[in-house]
Amino acid sequence: MTEIIKPTMVDYTRHLLVCVGEHCSDNNAGQALYDQLKDKLKESGLNEGTLRVKRSRASCFGTCKSGPLICVQPDGVWYYDVTSEKLDRIIKEHLLGGVPVTDYIYHQGPGATI
Ligand code: FES
Repeated sequence: MTEIIKPTMVDYTRHLLVCVGEHCSDNNAGQALYDQLKDKLKESGLNEGTLRVKRSRASCFGTCKSGPLICVQPDGVWYYDVTSEKLDRIIKEHLLGGVPVTDYIYHQGPGATI
């Protein structure tokens, strides 16, 4: 019989989801953005500590337009057309500064604070 092992997870403050689905961006742009995110979070010091950001890939948010799309939880903030440069601004102003970048938001969920 296979033993079921309870998973463990390092604490985090925010969870950033990146859509890597093929319907919202061309040329695997979502996956490319996700790949960059690891280094960007590390460079910003967000890979550990009290502001640690967890990152995950999603296959579709059901809003397949103008990707790459990212979602920041529990803030309930959804960004569209996220380039590497825009991601830098989101990291600096939202993830580090706590102020979402309204210019890039296409939806706000129930946890939204702005
Ligand atoms: S494929 Fe990205 S939202 Fe659907």
